[in-house]
Amino acid sequence: MAGNWKMNKTRDEALQFIYAVADKIPSITELDSVICAPSIVLRDLVKRQGDNLRIGAQNMNENDSGAYTGEISPAMLTSTNVEYVIIGHSERRQYYNETDIKVNEKTIKALEVGLTPIVCVGETLAQRESNDTFNVLKTQVEYALKNISYSDVFKIVIAYEPIWAIGTGKTATSDIADEACGYIRGLVENLYDKDVALKIRILYGGSVNVKNVKELMSKPNIDGGLVGGASLKPDDFITLCNEANEAKK
Ligand code: 13P
Repeated sequence: MAGNWKMNKTRDEALQFIYAVADKIPSITELDSVICAPSIVLRDLVKRQGDNLRIGAQNMNENDSGAYTGEISPAMLTSTNVEYVIIGHSERRQYYNETDIKVNEKTIKALEVGLTPIVCVGETLAQRESNDTFNVLKTQVEYALKNISYSDVFKIVIAYEPIWAIGTGKTATSDIADEACGYIRGLVENLYDKDVALKIRILYGGSVNVKNVKELMSKPNIDGGLVGGASLKPDDFITLCNEANEAKK
């Protein structure tokens, strides 16, 4: 269960959250729980993450260092001891021109420095309505996984986030979400093999909340959630983690 705070929470608010949540989520032996926070609070959160919660970033530059004003390098992230990084979120693709090629470069770099990339893919409403969803997913997934070796690919987490369901309150039905995640699993099988396809973790994201999480997580192709709005409230995030854990037992 991964929370994506996006551009929310001051340092004080982030600290309040971590104190409220860190020791109340399921054991890491049962569930991987991650909060992806703004870079400026990552170290503060890592220091207080406790035994079961993990911390991730929301973006990373693909270069090692250099004249990229305002960017965060891979080594800067690893020096905070975060373990995850979101790559290619639709908001970054849309507002910051993050292309499929960049997504691939960032994914390769994240693996190289030992971070677990959470690679986001998903179609717009217009693409879904014109029956283009599977084509879009195929292009995004195949680009993202280009030149990723058989021994590395299962370390990647893929998040299916249909853009029309993000922040809109319009969740994909669990059947639609499961179908898309299953399609992505099939793409991975074609590129690698069945073993990898079964092992790789595929999340659903888009208006996941405490009410719909159980139904979504009960689907066979959905391994977890990537949650925006509902991950901001400590009690809701704890519930999301508990529900996901129960659904997957
Ligand atoms: P919401 O859960 O707020 O719809 O956001 C989803 C998302 O973009 C997570 O990365």
